[in-house]
Amino acid sequence: MNITAIFASPRQNSASKAFGKYFLNRIAEKSTVQCNIDTFTLGDMQYGGCKACYLCQTEEELGVCKETDDLIEVFASLRKADILFMATPIYFGNLPSQLKAFTDRCKQFFMSTALGLGQISSLPSGKILVMLTTQQVYEVTKYEKLRKLLHYFFKQLGFTDFYFIGEDLLSIEFDLNEHKTFYNIIDNCIDTIINPADRL
Ligand SMILES: Cc1cc2nc3c(=O)[nH]c(=O)nc-3n(C[C@H](O)[C@H](O)[C@H](O)COP(=O)(O)O)c2cc1C
Repeated sequence: MNITAIFASPRQNSASKAFGKYFLNRIAEKSTVQCNIDTFTLGDMQYGGCKACYLCQTEEELGVCKETDDLIEVFASLRKADILFMATPIYFGNLPSQLKAFTDRCKQFFMSTALGLGQISSLPSGKILVMLTTQQVYEVTKYEKLRKLLHYFFKQLGFTDFYFIGEDLLSIEFDLNEHKTFYNIIDNCIDTIINPADRL
């Protein structure tokens, strides 16, 4: 099982990254097949957002992003991934800009303009999205909006399974031992991914 794991927080002592590492360790432990995990910490990388050159939408350069920055490796990993795992803080009910830049650069996978065939993804279909968020206060309305938006976005890219899990952290200082319930949620999520037949 190939996993592309993205840690989106710019913070050194990141809660979403800490929980994200737990997820990755546990899925590697629990999976009956070998897990190959590529991890990327966006805060350590140099890259920019989509510059809207639309070259990736031309017949000649279809699906190829001309930017030559650190995201190239993420996209190479994503092409062969079974799971895209993103661990991220919520900023004003939305993605932090570091992660938004990544999703905008996924424009290269949308083949619609050049082919005129509607939204067709150049990524192999059937991928799983797991998004783990931390935020100060769980705001259902904002969170639901973002979840629906990302569900729609990644569905267009050919993803077929979606898991959104999140935990509140009132302070940026945190004690992982105080989040036992969330560990159970992560474990249940992993169990469902590994044994889809158990899905409700
Ligand atoms: C710019 C900014 C915007 C934020 N917006 C929200 C928000 O809308 N809702 C919320 O509950 N927390 C918000 N937070 C708090 C973070 O989401 C929260 O502290 C999160 O757990 C940090 O995760 P990290 O430790 O992985 O960086 C915001 C923090 C920052 C720096």
